[in-house]
Amino acid sequence: MNQDQLKQAVAKAAIDYIQPKLESDSIVGVGTGSTANYFIDYLADIKGQFDGTVASSEASAERLKSHGIPVYDLNAVDQVVVYVDGADETNPQRMLIKGGGAALTREKIVAAVADEFVCIADGSKWVDVLGAFPLPVEVIPMARSHVAREIVKLGGSPVYREGVVTDNGNVILDVHDLQITDPVDFENKLNQIVGVVTNGLFAARNADVLLLGTENGVETK
Ligand code: 5RP
Repeated sequence: MNQDQLKQAVAKAAIDYIQPKLESDSIVGVGTGSTANYFIDYLADIKGQFDGTVASSEASAERLKSHGIPVYDLNAVDQVVVYVDGADETNPQRMLIKGGGAALTREKIVAAVADEFVCIADGSKWVDVLGAFPLPVEVIPMARSHVAREIVKLGGSPVYREGVVTDNGNVILDVHDLQITDPVDFENKLNQIVGVVTNGLFAARNADVLLLGTENGVETK
């Protein structure tokens, strides 16, 4: 199977995983990216079996609505039973790098609220040590240079993602040259820099379940 087929396979596996947990009043959290898009398309097939969704990006909200799936403001819901989203990297502890699609802040918020976080990823995302994929950091625009200098002090090489404005009106620095051996510590250190909104390490709140698409099928980690 090619990478796209693996993404489809894990998206379908996520439907099979969440379907028994859904009730008529359930709210499903929905992530962002090409793997999440496959999930959204499959979710349309079972849209009568839950109440609605909260989306981690405007793009995902639009795709959900195009399928006739209700999308709620997160402030309007009491509970998100499950959040399903892709990742740019995952380690064996299901700690992730996310934000390749610049949606990391809303993704982290929905993941924090959700009772359960299910990550869906093709096998190319599996690593022993996080950091080969440049770590996205969402930054308040006026703090961009300050944050970049502080990141250099932490050993990273930040690159401004030109032309990208997040759904929250901020900018992204992609941090290269990292080998993140203590992801929780590094996530916290980045959060301490004034001007950082969110960083793409999902370590303090890792995924509860990882559905990984491999040549041997979808493995549950
Ligand atoms: C978006 C994300 C995505 O989950 C991540 O970039 C993976 O994307 P894809 O499923 O297209 O490989 O974090 O901000």
